[in-house]
Amino acid sequence: MMLRSKLVVSFLTVIAITGIIATIVGQRLIESGIVREAQQKVNLDLNSAHQIYEQKLKYIEGTLIFTAMRRFSVKEALRKGDRRLLLESLRETMEEGQLDMLTITDKSGKVILRARNPEVFGDSQAQDEMVSKVLQGKKPVCGTQIIPRKELLRESEELAERARMQFIETPMAKPTPETENTSGMVLKAAVPIFGDVNKLIGVLYGGILLNRRYDIVDETKNVVYRGVKYEGKDIGTATIFQKDLRISTNVQLSEGERAIGTRVSSEVYDRVIGEGKLWTARAFVVNDWYLTAYEPIRNIHGKVIGILYVGILEKKYNDMKTAAFWNFFGVAMAAMVLALAIAYMLARAIAKPIQQLERGVEAIARGNFGVKVDIESSDEIGALAESFNRVSRELKDTYEKLQGKIEAADEDLKKAYKELQEKQEQLVQAAKLGSLGELAAGVAHEINNPLGTISLYAQMTLDDLKEDDKDNRENLQIILKHATRTAGIVKNLLEFARRTDLEARPIGINPVLEEALSIIAHQAELQQVNIVRQLLQDMPMIVGDANKLQQVFVNIIVNALQVMPDGGQLTVESSTAPDGGFVQISIVDTGPGIPEENLRKIFEPFFTTKETGKGTGLGLSVSHGIIEQHKGRIEVSSRVGKGTTFTITIPVADREKS
Ligand SMILES: Nc1ncnc2c1ncn2[C@@H]1O[C@H](COP(=O)(O)OP(=O)(O)OP(=O)(O)O)[C@@H](O)[C@H]1O
Ligand SMILES: [Mg+2]
Repeated sequence: MMLRSKLVVSFLTVIAITGIIATIVGQRLIESGIVREAQQKVNLDLNSAHQIYEQKLKYIEGTLIFTAMRRFSVKEALRKGDRRLLLESLRETMEEGQLDMLTITDKSGKVILRARNPEVFGDSQAQDEMVSKVLQGKKPVCGTQIIPRKELLRESEELAERARMQFIETPMAKPTPETENTSGMVLKAAVPIFGDVNKLIGVLYGGILLNRRYDIVDETKNVVYRGVKYEGKDIGTATIFQKDLRISTNVQLSEGERAIGTRVSSEVYDRVIGEGKLWTARAFVVNDWYLTAYEPIRNIHGKVIGILYVGILEKKYNDMKTAAFWNFFGVAMAAMVLALAIAYMLARAIAKPIQQLERGVEAIARGNFGVKVDIESSDEIGALAESFNRVSRELKDTYEKLQGKIEAADEDLKKAYKELQEKQEQLVQAAKLGSLGELAAGVAHEINNPLGTISLYAQMTLDDLKEDDKDNRENLQIILKHATRTAGIVKNLLEFARRTDLEARPIGINPVLEEALSIIAHQAELQQVNIVRQLLQDMPMIVGDANKLQQVFVNIIVNALQVMPDGGQLTVESSTAPDGGFVQISIVDTGPGIPEENLRKIFEPFFTTKETGKGTGLGLSVSHGIIEQHKGRIEVSSRVGKGTTFTITIPVADREKS
C-alpha cells in the first residue's frame, strides 16, 4: 500500500506541475497573442480615426476654397456689397457642406456677413489665429480651434448652447475645480477671396462645432468596427475630447446616453495632454476597461487642445482569456485523471510482485523453506524473484541436509549411550564377580584342607581294608568320589577367584579348538550331535594360555551338548574380526535358546538352571574370567527355540613383542 501510494503521489505531482506550467504558458500565449494583437489593431484603428478626422477637415477646407474661388455670386455680391445675395450663396454652401458656421470678412478681417447669424456683423476677426494667417499669407488654412463662448455667441447663440457642458463626475478623472465648459472646439478652415488681378478682397471662414456633433465618431465606429456588439455593448468606441472633456463620443454612460461631459482618466491626461504623447494600452473609460489608443489633437500652432480616442472593450478579450484558461485547466484536469488511472494501474503492477516477494520472505521466516514466488517478468523484479526462488530452494536443501545430520548424530548418540550402558553393566558384573570371588576363595581355602584330610584318611582306610570287606570298601569309595568332586568344585572356585596366572605364549587358536572338540567327540557321537567345523586357515597367532583357553571352549561346548540331549548341530567357527586386530571364535548350537531374562545372568557365578548336583553354575563365570585375562570379550546371543551363539574375541599377537 505504502509503495503504491508513493508512486501515485509522485505521478500526480509531476502531472500537476506539468498542468500548472501548461496553464501558465497558455495564459502567456493568449496574453501575448490575442491581447497584444487586439491592442495593435486598436493602434491601427486610431490611424483610421485620424484619417477620417483629417478628411473632414480637408473637406471643409475644400468646400470653402471652392466657394471662395468658383462661386461667382459670392465674389459678385462681395464686390457690390449685396448682403442679401451673399447670404443666399453662403447658406447654400453651408447646407451642402453641412457646416455649422460660415462667415465672410472684408480684406481687413471685418465681418461682412455671418450666414448662420446675419444680424451680427461689423466686428473684426483679424485677431483670429486663422483669419490673421490668411490675411498675411493669402493661403488657405485649416485646423482645430477652441473658440471662447463670446465668439461662439457671435456666430450663433444656438452653437454656444450646444458647446456648453456641465462636467459629469467621472471615476479616475483628474480632479478640477471647474464644473462646466462654455467654449467650443471646431474644425475650421479659412480661405482668401481674390478679386480681379489676384487682389485679396476678403476672407471666408467656417467649420463645424465638434461639441455634441457625432458624425465623425460614429463614422469611425462604423468604418472600423461595423457596429459589432459584445453582450449588448458596442465593442468599438471613438471619442473626441476638448482638452480632457468628452464632447463627441459613442461611449455610453448608460443605455442610449452618450457619455458627454465625462472626462479622461488622470493617467491618460498626464501622458497625452501633459506630455503630448500617444497612449496605447488598457485604460479605464467612463465605467469599463478598454484596450485604447489616444493621440493629441493640436491647433495650428501645435498646442495640444484635445484628444482623439479609439478603444475596444477589454472584457471580450478577458473572457477569451478566461475561457482559454478553463480550456487549458480542463485539459490538464482530464490528463491528470487519466494519468492517475494509469499511475494507479502501473503502481499496482509494480507493487504486486513486491508484495508477493514480501509474503515469500515472511513464509521463509516462519520456517516454510522452499516456497516459490511466481513472477514472470524480465526486469529487475523478475531477477529478484528468481534469486529469491534459488535462495529458498537452497535453504530447503541445506535444512534437509542438516536435519539428516542431526538424525544421524542422534542415532550415533543413542548407539553410544547403549554401548555405555552395556559397559556399565559389564563393570557392575565385574564388580559383583570380584566380591563374590573373594568370598568364594575364602570359603574354598577353608574347605580345601579338611577336604584333603578327608580324602587322605579315606584312602588310607581303603588301603587298609581287607579285600572281602565289600560293604565298607564301597562306602569308602563313595566318600572318596564325592570328596574328589568337591575338590574339583573348590579348584574351580579358586580358579575363578584367584585368577591363577596365565602361562602365556604365542599360540594358534585352531589347534586349541581341535583339542577341545576331540575331548567331547565321543559324547557328541552318543547324543547324535553333528559337529560342523568352519575353521579359517592362516589364523593369526595370539598370545595366551592354551590349557585355560581349551577349558573355556570345553565349558561352552559341554553346555551346548547338555541342551541338545536328542541331537542337533554344533558349529565351531574361527575367523578374524574385520579390522584384523582380533581373532573371533563362534560356537553355535541348535538348542532351546536362553530366555531374555536369563541372558544377563548366565555369567554370574552359581547361576544355573540345572538341578542340584548336576551343575554348579561356575562354568561360564570361570570362562569369562579367563577370556578377560586374555584381554578379550565373551558375548552371547540367543533366540528362544532356535539356538544360542557364544562369540569370543581375543586380540592377535603384537608381532614386535612376540
Ligand atoms: N548352550 C546353552 N544353551 C542353553 N542354556 C545354556 C547354554 N550354556 C549355558 N546355559 C545356561 O547357563 C547356565 C550356566 O551355565 P554354567 O556353565 O555356568 O553352569 P552349569 O552348566 O549350569 O553348571 P557347571 O557348568 O558348573 O556344571 C546353565 O545352567 C544353563 O541354564
Ligand atoms: Mg556348564
